[in-house]
Amino acid sequence: MAAVSNKTLLLSDLNSDVVPIHYIRPISERPNLTDIITSDIPIVDLRGIDGADHSSIVKAIGLASTTMVSLTQLIESMLCVAREFFRLPESERNAKYSDNPSKANRLSTSFNVHTEKIGCWRDYLRLHCHPLEEFVHEWPSNPPSFRDVAARYSRKIRELACKLLSCISESLGLEKDWMEKSLEDFGQHMAINYYPPCPDPELVYGLPAHKDPNVVTLLLQDTVPGLQILKNGNWVAVNPIPNNSIIVNLGDQIQVLSNGRYKSVLHRAVVNSDKERISIPTFCCPSMDAVIESHKSFLNQHHNKQLYRSFTYGDYYKAFWNRGLSQESCLDLFTNP
Ligand code: OGA
Ligand code: NI
Repeated sequence: MAAVSNKTLLLSDLNSDVVPIHYIRPISERPNLTDIITSDIPIVDLRGIDGADHSSIVKAIGLASTTMVSLTQLIESMLCVAREFFRLPESERNAKYSDNPSKANRLSTSFNVHTEKIGCWRDYLRLHCHPLEEFVHEWPSNPPSFRDVAARYSRKIRELACKLLSCISESLGLEKDWMEKSLEDFGQHMAINYYPPCPDPELVYGLPAHKDPNVVTLLLQDTVPGLQILKNGNWVAVNPIPNNSIIVNLGDQIQVLSNGRYKSVLHRAVVNSDKERISIPTFCCPSMDAVIESHKSFLNQHHNKQLYRSFTYGDYYKAFWNRGLSQESCLDLFTNP
């Protein structure tokens, strides 16, 4: 492991002008950065969500596979404490390090250093956010405002997530509270992804192509491009929209709950040579015991069978961490014959 042979735990501490060998992807699996298209993705302005525009917003959400919404001041503060955290002196920051995926709140690197063959060009801080009181004392206490800002941000983003879930239910023709009820007091995890500059971005991924295993991901990114989604067979750059936008990424559980009507989105993160990049996804997940199955109204309407067998989210999550990012998703393991 190059990170170890260079005597660093995290990429953030690596000082090298070449890419260490264990990050380099085989030629056929590289990002081909010159081929990337920039195109529009659907944007939904959620400001009228509680007012007269409600029904048109629900319609727009039904049409959009990825949406952006405007949020508040908190976004700036969240990005700010995230950046400050990764700028802390190594000894201070790395006290939070753990490579044990079952630990709820930890600083780590790549994806799962125990199972992967090629590393991801990423360090990350992973935080559980719900119920907040249970986890906040394990979060970093430096920079001093970290806990306060991240707690306020995660509360706000949860409110937004609830509204979105309700609109998604409505757009599927279901009761507003159906999605949220199915998730049984949904879990909320945040990752603070830190992608350092890379001597040769063509050789590596920040995160290789994957679908998020959860229900929806609300992703905040700074001003540096890096996120790409697969759209009609092409990799498309989802460049940051200035002024506080959040990207909503549909995950595997939306695909199961809607019996395939909405699809989870294949996406990846690339890195660049001169700028660091920070992204902060909030993953909304069913509770581990929630039984995931599509609403019976989808059976005749869209397919005459349940595309996926029933499972608990705990089973799915275990499969996801076992498989890692070597495949796009774990849906194939739960597909009905
Ligand atoms: C993720 C992810 C993309 C990004 O953390 O699951 O897809 O832009 N991140 O960092
Ligand atoms: Ni993702």
